[in-house]
This record gives sequence, C-alpha cells and structure tokens, in this order.
Amino acid sequence: MVEGIEKPNLKTLISEERLQTRIAELAREIDRDYADAERLICIGVLKGSVFFLVDLLKKVQTPVAVDFFQTSSYGAGTEPGEVRIRKDIDMSIRGQHVLLIEDIVDTGYTLRTILDLLRFRGARSVKLCALLDKEARREVEVPIDYSGFSIEDRFVVGYGLDYDQLYRNLPFIGYLEP
Ligand code: IMP
Repeated sequence: MVEGIEKPNLKTLISEERLQTRIAELAREIDRDYADAERLICIGVLKGSVFFLVDLLKKVQTPVAVDFFQTSSYGAGTEPGEVRIRKDIDMSIRGQHVLLIEDIVDTGYTLRTILDLLRFRGARSVKLCALLDKEARREVEVPIDYSGFSIEDRFVVGYGLDYDQLYRNLPFIGYLEP
C-alpha cells in the first residue's frame, strides 16, 4: 500500500506508444537469441506480468509454451524478503529453455527465488525479461537479460501493475500523486 494516497492524481510515466514500441524491440531480440530453439517455455508471474506477457508473446515468432507462477511475500513474522510460491507451474522444465517474464524488478527477492527454483529443476537455460527495472531499490542481485525500461524509485501502476488491485488495465504506466 502507498502511504498518504487518498485522492490519487494519475500521471503518465510511459505512454502506450512507448511501451508497445519497446515491446516490439524486445520481441525481436528474443527471436534473434532463440532462433535455433525448438521451443521456449515462457513463464509469467501472476498477476502483474499478464498484460506485458500477452503483448510481448503476440509479437514473438519462436514457438512458445506458456505457464504461470503466483507468489506472495510475507512481512510480519517472517524473514525479510521471504517469498512463497502460491501457485506452481504445471509443466516440467527439465532440459528446456525457459524465459521468465515479469512486470517489474524491485528488491529482486521474488525473481531471485523463482530463478533459483527454475535452475534447481534442471532447465537447460533460464533468462529473465522484465518490463521495468527499479534498480535503486535492489537488495539482491538479479541479472535482467531483456529489460524494457529503467525507472526511478517511485510506485507505478498500470499495464498489469496495481495499487490495491486497481489500475492493472491501464494501457500505459502511470504513477499516483497524492
Ligand atoms: P520484488 O520481489 O521486491 O522485486 O517485488 C516484485 C513485485 O512487487 C512485483 O512483481 C510487483 O508485483 C510488486 N511491485 C514492486 N514495485 C511495484 C510498483 O511500483 N507498483 C506496483 N507493484 C510493484
């Protein structure tokens, strides 16, 4: 939750046009890098990555399979950065090329946990594609193979990202001013 926001004023940070242009570039990079792959397993993290994943994969030509994780972070009473898997993927990834698709990398705990798990399960390769990188907030190192935009440390909404479950369906990335 964002402290102090009662009557939010929504401002645009990244327009729909800039998002879609950059997503088309990312799709081209992915196709180039996986040109020899028979299949790429693309894994999204629910719920935030869904809008980005759909738009990105509609532009990718490489044959893809799609699956999802859902995670939750626990604050009080648990270790800082402890991440739980609430929904696991259904597919076996042993020996497969895996691309993890995420909306935003913030502290990095969520992705560090998932990337370690995917490697532990014997994926042939694991790469990360994140639409937004909030680097100033990073607490654990997470290499981003395909990064959409670096943004400053502010709470953003839209295009999958929520504030109290709202704003996910905005076609652009915005921020809320009190
Ligand atoms: P991390 O584990 O701290 O990197 O957290 C990543 C998750 O926190 C993202 O997948 C988002 O769901 C959420 N998150 C982080 N920053 C923002 C933000 O600015 N707006 C909305 N959700 C965010």
